[in-house]
Amino acid sequence: MSFNASATALRRLEGKVAIITGGASGIGASVVRIFHENGAKVIIADIQDEVGQKIADQLGEDVSYIHCDVSKEEDVSNLVDAAVCRHGKLDIMYSNAGVIDRPFSGILDVTKSDLDKVLGVNVMGAFWGAKHAARVMILEKKGCILFTTSATTNIAGLSTHPYAASKCAVLGLVRNLAAELGQHGIRVNCVAPFVVATGIAGPTDPKQAEALENMVTGWANLKGCVLKADDIARAALYLASDEANYVSGLNLVVDGGYSVVNPSMLKTLKLMD
Ligand SMILES: NC(=O)c1ccc[n+]([C@@H]2O[C@H](COP(=O)([O-])OP(=O)(O)OC[C@H]3O[C@@H](n4cnc5c(N)ncnc54)[C@H](O)[C@@H]3O)[C@@H](O)[C@H]2O)c1
Repeated sequence: MSFNASATALRRLEGKVAIITGGASGIGASVVRIFHENGAKVIIADIQDEVGQKIADQLGEDVSYIHCDVSKEEDVSNLVDAAVCRHGKLDIMYSNAGVIDRPFSGILDVTKSDLDKVLGVNVMGAFWGAKHAARVMILEKKGCILFTTSATTNIAGLSTHPYAASKCAVLGLVRNLAAELGQHGIRVNCVAPFVVATGIAGPTDPKQAEALENMVTGWANLKGCVLKADDIARAALYLASDEANYVSGLNLVVDGGYSVVNPSMLKTLKLMD
């Protein structure tokens, strides 16, 4: 069979079945739209039922919505079973749902309820997603499991302690899963975003979102563009597609180089010029 590069480039997930948790808003909603545009059959899994259902209705019959609280194993197990029942298989499991504790505070302020909330969704949700996706993917001897981590896996001080710890835990899980599941043909990867002006980052309206984007653009290393949810979704599209056939165990950091640059050194060098 010949490889048709142009057709593949147009619809990079043709015929694949994908679950996107946290698909009702922000980065997840962009992933849903971009995976659908690329030919995937998509199941949105979220706790925002009205918004999630509306997105599914707007995108058409290849996109559906299922209520799922990712911190509950039973919900995630039912979600995976429903996807397989509806479409006959599961190719891509994207555990993207996430929460943060607020406000940004120190270790002395951390409470058990902060930890329960953040670890419950971000870490336990990732475990249940991986466990139940692997349950069906191992039988097929193939599959792609994805997570959204964060630039906090690569640089300290960007977030609260519970949130940073939760995302580093997910990265540990990704690497261990890649080690276990490679023998079954299953790839495991994650995307690590820098700050995107979605609900989790704080803004509640477009004006606040624009103010946050302006602030982030000020600190950013890469100038001339603003990081959007679609940029993260396109990184996930690459990892989910056959173009990443031999990529596993990767934390794909989408931060415009922020975490590898020491800005004070750059400032000093400029002063010395
Ligand atoms: N926006 C950023 O700056 C940023 C940076 C790094 C990582 N992330 C990560 O990206 C992912 C998506 O976040 P976002 O930026 O789109 O924020 P968002 O708040 O817009 O989206 C999060 C989604 O997760 C859903 N969700 C929350 N708890 C859930 C639960 N128990 N079960 C199912 N769904 C649940 C929410 O309803 C929402 O739709 C998260 O994992 C987040 O930690 C975001």
